[in-house]
Amino acid sequence: MQSAAIEIRDAEFFYGSTRAVVVPGLEIAKNRITAFIGPSGCGKSTVLRAINRMNDLVPGARVTGEIRFNGHDLYGPDIDPVEVRRRIGMVFQKPNPFPKSIYDNVAYGPRLLGIRDKARLDTIVESSLRDAALWDEVKNDLKKSGTRFRAGSSSGCASPAPSLSSQRSS
Ligand SMILES: Nc1ncnc2c1ncn2[C@@H]1O[C@H](COP(=O)(O)OP(=O)(O)OP(=O)(O)O)[C@@H](O)[C@H]1O
Ligand SMILES: [Mg+2]
Repeated sequence: MQSAAIEIRDAEFFYGSTRAVVVPGLEIAKNRITAFIGPSGCGKSTVLRAINRMNDLVPGARVTGEIRFNGHDLYGPDIDPVEVRRRIGMVFQKPNPFPKSIYDNVAYGPRLLGIRDKARLDTIVESSLRDAALWDEVKNDLKKSGTRFRAGSSSGCASPAPSLSSQRSS
């Protein structure tokens, strides 16, 4: 049986004095896909943002109780929220590229981790874009701005459609 990667116990999520969400207990297994499904406003994003400490950046937001990642209390005093956000990624409903080229957007994370070698970055950029099924669309436009990607559908996953090429031709 898989052990839990993320465990939430007796957690309450507040915005100011309003208690927005209560999670008595929740375990998210390793190497499995877990979906939060519910009506708008039921608290899916609030709980997700708390798992990578993004709620810290929302004025008035706070969490009580326990949220553990591989056994570590994500809100413990020795935890660096920047490190949490580096390890626990989040894909937003709307893509939000930096005002940089497509290449530099994809290379941003690896560069932040200290990778400078051009050939290695080229490989990472190509393989990442291939994995996202975007390579064929953008391989000739890597130096063009990533912000030309319009926000995708709000279906809950990042969707870069319509493509750069279709925007050019329209
Ligand atoms: N920044 C905020 N300040 C105050 N209240 C907030 C804030 N963000 C969310 N809330 C409230 O917290 C509750 C949960 O909202 P949340 O955005 O987590 O729901 P959701 O399930 O992700 O909704 P949706 O399906 O629309 O994305 C709602 O009552 C919402 O109004
Ligand atoms: Mg949401």
